[in-house]
Amino acid sequence: MEDVVLDKLQRPLRDLRISVTDRCNFRCRYCMPEEIFGPDYAFLSDDNILSFDEIERLSRIFVSLGVKKLRITGGEPLLRKDLPALIKRLKLIDGVEDIALTTNGSLLKKFAGDLYNSGLSRVTVSLDSLDEERFAYMNGNRSRVKTVLEGMQAASEAGMKVKVNMVVQKGKNDQDIIPMAQYFKEKRYTLRFIEYMDVGNSNDWRLDEVVSKQEIIESINERMPIERIPANYNGEVAARYRYTDRDQEMGIISSVTDSFCSSCTRARLSAEGKLYTCLFASKGYDLRELLHSGQNDQTIAAAISAVWNHRSDRYSDERLSHTHPKVSPKVEMSHIGG
Ligand code: GTP
Ligand code: 5AD
Ligand code: SF4
Ligand code: SF4
Repeated sequence: MEDVVLDKLQRPLRDLRISVTDRCNFRCRYCMPEEIFGPDYAFLSDDNILSFDEIERLSRIFVSLGVKKLRITGGEPLLRKDLPALIKRLKLIDGVEDIALTTNGSLLKKFAGDLYNSGLSRVTVSLDSLDEERFAYMNGNRSRVKTVLEGMQAASEAGMKVKVNMVVQKGKNDQDIIPMAQYFKEKRYTLRFIEYMDVGNSNDWRLDEVVSKQEIIESINERMPIERIPANYNGEVAARYRYTDRDQEMGIISSVTDSFCSSCTRARLSAEGKLYTCLFASKGYDLRELLHSGQNDQTIAAAISAVWNHRSDRYSDERLSHTHPKVSPKVEMSHIGG
């Protein structure tokens, strides 16, 4: 029988988010600002990232501990060579019920067919504006709206379900909330608005740049009436809504004003093989070292269970009450994905 591994707050281990590279071809200001992630930034070298064999082996171990859902992230995961081959291997793991991919969409047109053929049935594409100028500002002038939309179209035509993630930052792209909602309602892709978060150490996050879930709901509801619908599954990150005049949903991910730590079942594996138990953690647990020192699956499983058993992270719940001690620097989002 499958183990159920619980943390200190009785949360089971259900999802594994796997970063396959810390590199990205975008420089989004809220994630990898150009000034910090410049030409001299020390990214991981190829021999310091997990191989596909290692990712597959660790994924099998996580699945034996109760993980049912895998998400491939980055940096930008499509920069990793032969990514569809990895997906094919992960698909074959008994017990994996869902595999998803988070991408910035810039290379999606090129890879959509291969991804679908590898067994991927859905993708989540980040897009922060439909306005070319604002999108260029947001992504550090690395890509065009048109390219990302073509990527989504290719993914959809290949047979994959497409979701869209938009990070909303006050004064930067909040005027895009309505145009994005209208556009993707028509397109029938599920759009999720994400409250701007204080991930990493480099985005100079300020609370007054967050557009709250409530504000987003009110703004959309005024023009396009929406109603709340139940979650698809326990612990779903996005609160779901549907437009009352059309069978189309959208969502809001409110880590800042309405956090969801109490149902957080997500572990994160960085490209260099460290296990993080929170998006805002300062330190990861080195699984690659265990692999390289020749430990067997049972020992590695026991180590992962022990880390999870000790977990008490609830950063977002604590953020606004300022009970969170200002400690070591946090891991960068581009190292562990979203
Ligand atoms: P589905 O599997 O499609 O339901 O998506 P998901 O709920 O896994 O969401 P996705 O991976 O697309 O995450 C969207 C964004 O939500 C991420 O990029 C993060 O910005 C944020 N997010 C996801 N998980 C967490 C989490 O555990 N904590 C916090 N604070 N934010 C999260
Ligand atoms: N706040 C909220 N979401 C973020 N993402 C990256 N940085 C932040 C942030 N500071 C999201 C991206 C993408 C996913 C990888 O994480 O928009 O959808
Ligand atoms: Fe932007 Fe995603 Fe790249 Fe971060 S990892 S810079 S959010 S595209
Ligand atoms: Fe999970 Fe940490 Fe996000 Fe809370 S802040 S939901 S514990 S990843």
